[in-house]
Amino acid sequence: MAMTQDELKRAVAKAAADHVATQVPAGSIIGVGTGSTANFFIDELAKIKERVAATVASSEATRKRLEGHGIKVLDLNEVTALPVYVDGADEITAGLAMIKGGGGALTREKIVAAVAAEFVCVCDQSKLVDTLGKFPLPVETIPMARAHVARALEKLGGQPKLREGFVTDNGNVILDVHGLAIADPAGLETAINQIVGVVTNGLFARRPADLLLLATPTGVRTLKA
Ligand code: A5P
Repeated sequence: MAMTQDELKRAVAKAAADHVATQVPAGSIIGVGTGSTANFFIDELAKIKERVAATVASSEATRKRLEGHGIKVLDLNEVTALPVYVDGADEITAGLAMIKGGGGALTREKIVAAVAAEFVCVCDQSKLVDTLGKFPLPVETIPMARAHVARALEKLGGQPKLREGFVTDNGNVILDVHGLAIADPAGLETAINQIVGVVTNGLFARRPADLLLLATPTGVRTLKA
């Protein structure tokens, strides 16, 4: 029988929890991402929570779910090192560059990923693409800079659309940029970061994932950059 997308997500979440249990020293602090796949990971992490000293959350939603399982959540500023960060993606290439931020948590995700020694991406196979950009690229923007940033993104070849009725955990807005075929993810990530008023963009290419656990109907595949 064909596996549902939720069954694929649960399978890859289990594989990530196994990775934590076998590859990360007991008593470590674990970085935890945001989204439906990350939620399955949180539920699996709860089963091995004696091995984990604490976590750092990439969003308020993730913090609440972790605390709901009785897992300790620390402020990132209290932590000097994170051996691993586990999170999903909206799109990922075989080179492990990603688009993230479909759930709007991209800034905190990028900050936690920057501290982590290893980024483990957990996805079902629908997320693996040859070229990033079919999924609209989220750009978190300071509200007063919204129109300026939108004009600058148009100059870079995209069609930005304001995510209506959405405010990030940091009090900002998101412009979702449509119509991009991203040939140079790291170059575009840098170019967008140079626009005044941009907080973060959803390209994770300058610091890509280190390991991709990809759920397929025949099992979880492991890809390294
Ligand atoms: C959250 O802001 C995103 O970066 C998520 O990591 C991404 O949207 C993946 O979410 P799903 O696992 O729900 O597809």
